[in-house]
Amino acid sequence: MATLLEGKKVAESVYSKILLDISLLPTIPKIVFVLVGDDGASKTYVNAKGKKCTDLGLQSETLRLPNDVSEEDLLRKISELNKNKNVHGILVQLPLPKKINKARVLAEIDPLKDVDGLHPENAGRLLQGEPRFSPCTPAGVIEMLKFYNIPIEGKNAVVVGRSEIVGKPMALLLLMQNATVTVVHSKTSDLKAVTKAADILVVAMGKPNFIGADHVKAGAVVVDVGIHRTPDGLVGDVDFKAVEPKVSAISPVPGGVGPMTICMLMKNLLTAATLQQKK
Ligand code: GUN
Repeated sequence: MATLLEGKKVAESVYSKILLDISLLPTIPKIVFVLVGDDGASKTYVNAKGKKCTDLGLQSETLRLPNDVSEEDLLRKISELNKNKNVHGILVQLPLPKKINKARVLAEIDPLKDVDGLHPENAGRLLQGEPRFSPCTPAGVIEMLKFYNIPIEGKNAVVVGRSEIVGKPMALLLLMQNATVTVVHSKTSDLKAVTKAADILVVAMGKPNFIGADHVKAGAVVVDVGIHRTPDGLVGDVDFKAVEPKVSAISPVPGGVGPMTICMLMKNLLTAATLQQKK
């Protein structure tokens, strides 16, 4: 039986440390979620993040803007949040409406308040191996692998997907742990040949149940970042039933990576508040 990589357990151990760190801060950190439009999944994610803040005794607020908000207005709102000393973290929930230039919006966030780690300065720091805020989902994957004492150094790590928010930073974080990293994506000619060579396979491709038993090596560690609502309930990018019997460890969906994303966001918020307090 494969070891289940249960993000909930990992997150609980991180939260006990976070609670201690919160108690040492002179002010209670505050995060503002910027939610544009009424995408159902985005609302659910923002609500879950806000609830976790409440549970931990952190302050949070959601700034809701209409789907047709202009880019200039959105930038102005972010600029106001940048100047507000009572706000320590700013998270612009993605995706944004198509007509808004996402890169411009993310670059507007004060890099010291960029708890998502998506500002070009923070992305650049990660590239240089000196991260300030690592994007939450990939940081959560590393935290999870460490919690379960899964060795990373020298391993063949394959990342499926090359998004700015998961795939690319995941590859960089695995490199920082001295893995040999390969990134595969929708244009890779023989994806299966590469995934089959992985000791650690991180899947963030956005296709329900895509990775089957014949994509993985026996004994591999599989981390499933996908999450999809289907008539059969929530499923990941990995066909759990087919893959689990073949591998040594696998993260389930739900209950795997999901809780880690919020957990790392809370950790980043604390880092942000600490950095701003020092400033
Ligand atoms: N949309 C889906 N996941 C995320 C995330 O981690 N951060 C932001 N800002 N938007 C998201």
